[in-house]
Formats: sequence, C-alpha cells, structure tokens
Amino acid sequence: MGLFYESVLCYHVRSESGGIMRIEKHPILEFKQREKIYFTFDGKEVFGYAGDTIASALDALGVKVVSRSPIHDRARGFYCAIGNCGSCHMVVNGVPNVKTCITRLEPGMNVNTQKGKGQIR
Ligand code: FES
Repeated sequence: MGLFYESVLCYHVRSESGGIMRIEKHPILEFKQREKIYFTFDGKEVFGYAGDTIASALDALGVKVVSRSPIHDRARGFYCAIGNCGSCHMVVNGVPNVKTCITRLEPGMNVNTQKGKGQIR
C-alpha cells in the first residue's frame, strides 16, 4: 500500500500496482456503509456511493482521463477538486462543461468523457 489521500468525500489508497481502492476498514477512522449509486460512464453501467461527486466516484473506479483538451487533444483529469480549474469537465446528461469534481453523483446519470469544448446534445 502506498500513498493515502482524501478526495472530496471518500478515502482512497493507491496500491503498489498504481490502482485505486476505497478504504473500507481502518484502525482509527470509521467508514459507514453507504448506498450504491448506479450511473453510466461512456456507455458502461458503473457505480459510486452516496456522497460521492461524479469525479470521486470515477477516481475510485480508476478513471484518470475525463476530458480531452480542445486544441491538442491532451488528456485531462481530476486536478484541483474544488471547482477552480475546469480540468474535470465532462458531459453529464447531455450537458457539456459540467465540473464533475463539485457535482454530486445521482442515480441514473449519463456521464461521458468530453472531447474539446463539448457540444450540447
Ligand atoms: S478538478 Fe478542477 S474544477 Fe474540477
């Protein structure tokens, strides 16, 4: 086990292989069991937990690229986690440029990787 860090509302640990896992047991901290929330990410049904933001749920699933830059098509991901940078823009329920680091996960959301500036669908 490697680096321990806190994302918006959940605790994760990075394994030696670089994967992300949620911490479910800890010697000092207590983690309550939370309700699973199912949503769609790029056409696949996935889940997060009640209290997650979209970005924290995707981060826990190991998703690192959430959008591509408009001009050079560079990968962008979860960065500031406080709604300041725009690096986490995604298309949510057909609406582009949603800051997923500050948008609470809701059941049935349709979340898609954003390419460029995004287009309203
Ligand atoms: S990660 Fe910076 S606005 Fe979301």
